[in-house]
Amino acid sequence: HRRFDCQERKDKGRMIIRKSPAELEKMRRSGLLVHKVLHSVKELVQEGITTMDLENAAAKMIADAGARPAFKGYYSAAAGNRYPYVLCTSVNEQIVHGMPSTKTVLKKGDVLSIDTGVQLDGYFGDSAITVPIGEISPSLQKLLDVTRDSLEMAIDKVREGNRLFDICSTVQKYVESNGFSIVREFVGHGIGTSLHEEPQVPNYVDRNNENPRLKEGMVLAIEPMVNLGKPASKVLSDRWTAVSQDGSASAHFEHCVAVTKDGPWVLTRP
Ligand code: MF3
Ligand code: CO
Repeated sequence: HRRFDCQERKDKGRMIIRKSPAELEKMRRSGLLVHKVLHSVKELVQEGITTMDLENAAAKMIADAGARPAFKGYYSAAAGNRYPYVLCTSVNEQIVHGMPSTKTVLKKGDVLSIDTGVQLDGYFGDSAITVPIGEISPSLQKLLDVTRDSLEMAIDKVREGNRLFDICSTVQKYVESNGFSIVREFVGHGIGTSLHEEPQVPNYVDRNNENPRLKEGMVLAIEPMVNLGKPASKVLSDRWTAVSQDGSASAHFEHCVAVTKDGPWVLTRP
C-alpha cells in the first residue's frame, strides 16, 4: 500500500498485532479464498478479454463465497476517495492500483498484475500475481521470474528470531543484483482484522525505519513491486493508478505469511 497514506497510519497506532492459532485459522480461510479467486481469474486471462471481464468474474466469486471484497470501498487519504473495484489490474508500466476498465483490452506481449483481497469472518487476505498475455519478451519474463523469486526468498525469512530487515534486504539484494529497480513509494504491510496494519514492509532497507524482531503470530503481506527500468513512480490523474515514470514495465507479487513455531506459513496458497 502507499507508504504515506497518513490518515490510516494515525488511526492504527504503532503496535504489531499478533494473532492466536484460532485467528490464524480464520486468516487461512480468507487466504485460501483469495488464492481461489486469483487463480480462477488467471485462467480467464487471454488476448482480447478486458480487465472489466476479470473484475466481474472476481466480484461474483467473492460474493458467492459469502465474503466481502477488501478493496472495494477502501478509503485512501492520499487519493481522497474510495477504491471502486474488487480487483486491481495493472498492465505493463502500471505498478499497482490499476483500475479495471471495459476499455482495457489485453493483448499479446502484455504483462498484467492482478491483486485482490477479501474479508471473511472479520479477517483479511491479500495476494497478487503478475501473468503474461501470450508470448512475452525474454526481458519481461525475467522481470516476472526475478520478482516472484524475490518474494519466495523473502518468505523463507519469515521466522521467529529474524528481523523485518531480513525480509526487506532479501528482496532488495536479489532484485537489484538482477539489474531491476525496487519501487519505494509502495510497501507491504501487516494484515489481520484490518487490511493494513503495522508494520510497513518495504522492499528495501531504510536504516531510519524500525527493525522489529519477528514473533510467533505476526502476519505480513509481503509484496515486491519491481520496475524493469528506473524506480521512480507517479500516480495518474485518476488518483489511484501508479505507473513507472520512465514507462518501463513493472511486476508485482504478494502473499500473506504468518510467523509460526514451524516456520513461515503462506496463508494465501494451498
Ligand atoms: N495489495 C494492495 C495494498 O495492500 C492493494 C490495495 S488496493 C486498495 O495496498 F484499494 F485497497 F487500496
Ligand atoms: Co497488500
